[in-house]
Amino acid sequence: MIEFRNVHFAYDEKEVLRGINLQIDYGETVVIMGPSGSGKSTILRLLLGLECPQKGDVIIDQQDICNLPEKDKREIRKNIGMVFQNGALFDSLSVGENVGYYLFEHTRMTLDEISEKVEKMLGFVGLDSDEIIDSLPEQLSGGMQRRVAIGRALLSTDPKIMLYDEPTTGLDPQSGANILSLIKKLHLERNICSIMVTHQIADALQVGDRFVVIVEGLVVFDGSLDELRESQELDVLNFLAPFRESLHGVTNKRFI
Ligand SMILES: Nc1ncnc2c1ncn2[C@@H]1O[C@H](COP(=O)(O)OP(=O)(O)OP(=O)(O)O)[C@@H](O)[C@H]1O
Ligand SMILES: [Mg+2]
Repeated sequence: MIEFRNVHFAYDEKEVLRGINLQIDYGETVVIMGPSGSGKSTILRLLLGLECPQKGDVIIDQQDICNLPEKDKREIRKNIGMVFQNGALFDSLSVGENVGYYLFEHTRMTLDEISEKVEKMLGFVGLDSDEIIDSLPEQLSGGMQRRVAIGRALLSTDPKIMLYDEPTTGLDPQSGANILSLIKKLHLERNICSIMVTHQIADALQVGDRFVVIVEGLVVFDGSLDELRESQELDVLNFLAPFRESLHGVTNKRFI
C-alpha cells in the first residue's frame, strides 16, 4: 500500500506540492491528471524516493521511504517499475541488451537464460523479438520504444507497482491504444498496481478505475469516473472543460 501523508515539497524556493494526501492499494489503477506544472511528475519522483518531502511522509508498505538507508530504499525500488515519458532507453545498447540489462548486471544468470527471458518478455509486450532484438532504440518507432521500456521495467524488478509518466503522449492513436491495452493486460494478469500520469484524458478514462486531479500542488478530486463526471468542484470543472465530450462519451471500456 502507498500513502502520501500531508506531503509538502518545494524545489529550492518553488513550492510544488502543498499538502498531498493519497492512499493507493495494490490492485488499483489510478490516473493522476492536472494542468502542466501542477506537480504530477514530482509525485512519481517522491514515490521512487528520488526526492524527499520537506514536510509529511511518503509511505510504501508501512515504510517511510525517506527514512530508510540506501540499501533498503533499493529493496523498495525493486518493487516499482517506472516508465518515463520518452522511454529513457540506453541509446547505445540494442533492444535485447536494454531489456536484459538488469539481469545481466545484477544476477548470475547465464547469457542463454537471459536471452530466453528477454525473448519471452518482448513477446509479452507485443514485439516480435526476431525482428527487433538486435536493433538500436533509435531504429524503432516511439510506440515500440515505449513497449521496450515497459518490458525492461518488468524484467528488471518484477514490480508490484508500475508508474507511467505520460505513456501515450506523442504517439499515434494506434500505438497509444497498444500501450493502453498492455497496461490493462499487466493489471489483469499480474494484479500490478498502476499509477499513470497523463494529459490524455480520453486515454486516462480507458484505463483508470480511480482518478485524481492535482491543481497547484493540491488534490482537488479523488474518485470514480461517475464521481468525476458529476463533480462540481470549480478547479475540476475548469480543468475538464476542454474534455467534456470525451468525458461523457465514455462508458466503461476497461475490459474491452
Ligand atoms: N528539478 C527541478 N528543479 C526546479 N523546479 C522544478 C524541477 N522539476 C520540476 N520543477 C518545477 O516544479 C513544478 C512541477 O513540476 P512537475 O514536473 O511535477 O509538473 P507536472 O505536473 O508533471 O507537469 P507536466 O504536465 O508539464 O509534466 C513545475 O513548475 C516545474 O517547473
Ligand atoms: Mg510531468
